[in-house]
Amino acid sequence: MSVRRLADEQPASFEFNADNLRWAQAQIAKYPEGRQASAVIPLLWQAQKQHDYWLPRPAIEKVADMLGMPYIRVLEIATFYTMFNLAPVGRHFIQMCGTTPCMLRGSDDIKAVLKRRVGAEREVSADGHFSWLEVECLGACCNAPMVQINDDYYEDLTAENFEKLLDDLAAGRPVRKGSQTGRVTSEPAGGLTSLTSLYGVDGRSGPGYVTAGGESAPDYAAAAGEKAHQDQAPATSSAGRLAQEVAESPGKPREPVAESGRARTEVPVADHGQRQDARAQPLVGGPQQGTPADHPTKSAPADPSKTS
Ligand code: FES
Repeated sequence: MSVRRLADEQPASFEFNADNLRWAQAQIAKYPEGRQASAVIPLLWQAQKQHDYWLPRPAIEKVADMLGMPYIRVLEIATFYTMFNLAPVGRHFIQMCGTTPCMLRGSDDIKAVLKRRVGAEREVSADGHFSWLEVECLGACCNAPMVQINDDYYEDLTAENFEKLLDDLAAGRPVRKGSQTGRVTSEPAGGLTSLTSLYGVDGRSGPGYVTAGGESAPDYAAAAGEKAHQDQAPATSSAGRLAQEVAESPGKPREPVAESGRARTEVPVADHGQRQDARAQPLVGGPQQGTPADHPTKSAPADPSKTS
């Protein structure tokens, strides 16, 4: 992390436009009197979005005025978080992760491309398309190396696919977000190693994805009868049976229901009186609070305070 300073050249003033002002006032109104400072990050973020993705000093001061905060406190926040740009950025602002997992997986190659194609850190390229910054972990280490460009992540980068990504962005062509090697989310890079019979005919794609060959993956849930089970769920699960019973005879007292070997007390949501009663019921199947340990399945008295 390097020193973060305000840009040398600053606009004379900053005002939220009408829509953003309404939005900002709605954010401030969410907090109780005296706690308006809690809205500082959303307001700074909105100011940045309005001002070509960088925060000039007048915007920082405007936010401070709106929240009744000293300028220095808002400046501290704006200079601490790398999500706030303190100087103009390119149309495609690239945050390159250089933390250990990304570094071990080749972020130096990505950095070399950026230096060659865009220039030095924080400099906007001559065509205005790009600027970049090295940042700390962005939380996508499993698909390292990666960059964030504006609001989207691009992962599994190599020098080659990253160059192509920059070409496509500069030319306004559609680009693929996420993994650039085609893996789904953070699946193992070499394909699935478990649940392969359930997820993905090609060992890579989950249900609903189109495979590399162009065919749609089969509907495994239907094949396994899961959909049929879901359709019947209200009648076959304990919750479903209970709901059905309650609907048919709402006043009838009910015993706790044990399911899958694990004790559970199911309470009809609509019946407040029964909910109170059921709270005093012991759980079935093991020693529980209010149930004598030497008689794990014995019912405790309705009033636990009378237990001797
Ligand atoms: S180390 Fe790069 S995303 Fe975590």
